[in-house]
Amino acid sequence: MIPLAVPDLNGNERKYLNECIDSTFVSSVGQFVVRLEEMVSAVSGTAYAVATSAGTTALHTALLSAGVQRDDMVIIPSYTFIATANAVSHCGAIPWCIDIDEASWTMSADILEDELERKVVMIDGKPYHSALRRRIAAVVPVYTLGNPADIDRIKEIASRYGLPVVADAAAAVGAEYKHDKAGKYADITVYSFNGNKTVTCGGGGAIVSNDKELIDRAKHLSTTARVGADYDFDMVGYNYRMTNIQAAVGCAQMERLHELISHKRRIRQYYRNSLSDIKGICFFPEPEWGESTCWFSGIVFDRDCNIKIKEVCEKLKAEGIESRPFWKPVHLQLPYQNVEKSTLQVTESIWNRILTLPCSTGITTEELQQTVKSVRQVCTEMIQNNHKK
Ligand SMILES: Cc1ncc(COP(=O)(O)O)c(C=O)c1O
Repeated sequence: MIPLAVPDLNGNERKYLNECIDSTFVSSVGQFVVRLEEMVSAVSGTAYAVATSAGTTALHTALLSAGVQRDDMVIIPSYTFIATANAVSHCGAIPWCIDIDEASWTMSADILEDELERKVVMIDGKPYHSALRRRIAAVVPVYTLGNPADIDRIKEIASRYGLPVVADAAAAVGAEYKHDKAGKYADITVYSFNGNKTVTCGGGGAIVSNDKELIDRAKHLSTTARVGADYDFDMVGYNYRMTNIQAAVGCAQMERLHELISHKRRIRQYYRNSLSDIKGICFFPEPEWGESTCWFSGIVFDRDCNIKIKEVCEKLKAEGIESRPFWKPVHLQLPYQNVEKSTLQVTESIWNRILTLPCSTGITTEELQQTVKSVRQVCTEMIQNNHKK
């Protein structure tokens, strides 16, 4: 079976893990944690970084640091992994789901602007949802598939209401925005180093920012809000620190960041070059304002093909190819069915037409050729049959 995405651990991972064991620094204090934070802030163009146990815990911490409180509302795109919404819920706040744009599959700045103009009132200098009477606390664009959102525009719109922007850049370590490092644009940017990401720590996350106050708060919250070296704590904190073992793997991966991203981009291009003549499909978007990290690659079926993605996956599986649908939107998930939302035309139109294809950074040319051959055969046949019906 050609897998969908497996990590490439052929750098210094083993060596650094052995160093952790030899030194006994296996827990949350250690040189690899410090080194990883330096590497992550360097590729982000930020002065500071805090490494965390996961992307979700990084998001939760970042939202709290940005001032999100119980009963607030936080604006997110509906088209995201559920962790974005869950992190909002972990703060006791509720998500407000916004549509994405077709050109990037990231939060639509136009729809954000329109929603805020129509539904927000300012009370004592703070933005409130006029009907729900809840304070709005933050805007969270998601860098879908490693595509940066149009962050300049989103920040400008958010600033009219005094809203901080927390970017969920889970899969976008190393992305570029307007020829510059994408990680430095939002007030806080959050990454995931989960096993399926281009750069992995097994599990892990990071928060980056140029705002020292925000970062100090994030570090404090994620390390149990301890004051000094004894058992003194000044608020309810969280045990969200990354371990030296996770960071050891992360450092070895970050050393190869540019190589790993260039493999991802090559895979994206290969599928585009090899499958673009098939009628009834198109490819994942890449926004004109940035350079994607191309986390996943795959195809999108035209609506009139009436393709059921699960059926395509079954047929590809029989050919030895692992493939998958992609995210199901937040507002269609059981815990979030009643959330506030904008019109969600793009989200609802694309989410169940997306097929992700094998894209491990270590995939061989032979495996790509085999995948393309099977995808071509299965898709052409299914599209033709559906058109005949
Ligand atoms: C957009 C997005 N946000 C947040 C997360 C959560 O990260 P983690 O799995 O490290 O908690 C993910 C993970 O896939 C993600 O894709």
